[in-house]
Amino acid sequence: MNNSEHFPFAVRPLPYPAKGLSPYLSARTLKIHHDGHYAMYIQKLNKILECFPQYQKLPLEALILKQAFLPDEIRNEIRINAGGALNHMLYFECLTPAPKSRLSDEFKKIICDNFSSVDNLAELLKKAALSILGSGFAYLASDMSGKMHVLALKNTETPIEERLTPLLPIDMWEHAYYLQYQYNKKDYLDCIMNVINWQRVEMNYFSR
Ligand SMILES: [Fe+2]
Repeated sequence: MNNSEHFPFAVRPLPYPAKGLSPYLSARTLKIHHDGHYAMYIQKLNKILECFPQYQKLPLEALILKQAFLPDEIRNEIRINAGGALNHMLYFECLTPAPKSRLSDEFKKIICDNFSSVDNLAELLKKAALSILGSGFAYLASDMSGKMHVLALKNTETPIEERLTPLLPIDMWEHAYYLQYQYNKKDYLDCIMNVINWQRVEMNYFSR
């Protein structure tokens, strides 16, 4: 994550063509999600901060971490939109059209130490995702010691609020899957596991 980014925040372009994750995620689903929903969080965040120049130098993570110090009139909106911006930025960057990218032996061992196997981690992520009632994100995150955690977060909550490093979000808002999978969340989850960019997840872990 690039901590130097601050107001005005920009929508990061998709790191692959919109049709690149097809058939697991359709180009239409991905384009509406990225250009519509993700972009909306960035626009709203910038709009809020326009009137509060004293917070414009804060990067996304700091806006989320320091929300208790923000004025009452913007705290909730900042929390929602900074969280949404960060979760979406990471979601799109943790997917890849080249899913066969191998894990390093070192990272694979860390996953196995935490969850027995990569397959078991995938199952735990899917279970967490299916446990979310309404909108939210399932997450793989790590703490300061390097221990990994699987989380089921509501709405646009982030692991940062729990002092954890975000490694891999799975978007469970309906807009992430409904156009293609309707109510079949399990099918969405089974498919998305085929396009996880584990190399990016590994980078997130080792740069924490
Ligand atoms: Fe989303």
